[in-house]
Amino acid sequence: MFTDHIKEATLKNHQQTEKVLIGKMKAMRSQQDYINLLNLFYGYFGALELHIERYINASNLADYEDRRKTSAIADDITALGAIIPALAADDKLPVIDNYLKAFGALYVIEGSTLGGKIISKMIQQHLHVEDGRGLSFFNSYGKHTEQMWAGFKEILNDVAMSPEDEEIITRAANQTFAKFEAWLAN
Ligand code: HEM
Repeated sequence: MFTDHIKEATLKNHQQTEKVLIGKMKAMRSQQDYINLLNLFYGYFGALELHIERYINASNLADYEDRRKTSAIADDITALGAIIPALAADDKLPVIDNYLKAFGALYVIEGSTLGGKIISKMIQQHLHVEDGRGLSFFNSYGKHTEQMWAGFKEILNDVAMSPEDEEIITRAANQTFAKFEAWLAN
C-alpha cells in the first residue's frame, strides 16, 4: 500500500521534526512561548494551505471543508490575546505546482493531527491552560482523529495511480517536512 511506503520514506524527517518540537515544548515557560510556537505553525501551515487549495478542494477530497484549517491557529492566537503574524514567503515553502505535490504536502499537515494530541497534552503539562483555551488547533479532530486519518489515507492511496505519482507525492512530503524543519529553526 502506498501509505505504508510514504510513512517509511518520510520517517526520518518526521523524527527530526518531532525532536525539534519536543525540545521547544520542554523549554516552554510562559504563554508567550506557546504563542511563539503557534506563530511558527501559522506562518508555515497558513502559507502552505493557500498553495494546497489551488489543487485540492471538495471535488478531489470530498470532506476537505471539514478538515482542519489554519484558521484554527489564528483563532487560538487571538484567543490568547496576541496578533496574527505574517505568512511564510514562497521561498520558505515546498514547491506545490500540481495536485500530486499538493497531496504530498497535505499528507504532512493531516498527519500532524496525530501528533497534535500529544502536543496538546505536553502544552497543558508545561503551562496552565484554562478550559483548553488556545488549544483548538492541536486538539485536531478530537475523538474523530483516527477516523479522519483513515479516510485521508484511503483517498491518498487512490490518488497515487502509478509509481511515478507515488514518487512525486513522497518527494513533496519530504520537502514539506524539510522546509518546516528549516522554518522552525527561525
Ligand atoms: C511533538 C511532536 C510530534 C509528535 C510527538 C508526533 C507523534 C506522532 C505519532 C504518535 C504519530 C502516529 C504514528 C502511528 O500511528 O503510526 C504521528 C504520525 C504522523 N505525524 Fe507526527 N508527531 C509530532 C509532530 C508532527 C508534525 C509537526 C508533523 C508535520 C509537520 C507530523 C507529521 C506526521 C505525519 C505525516 C504522520 C503520519 C505517519 C503515517 O503515515 O502514518 N508530526 N506523529
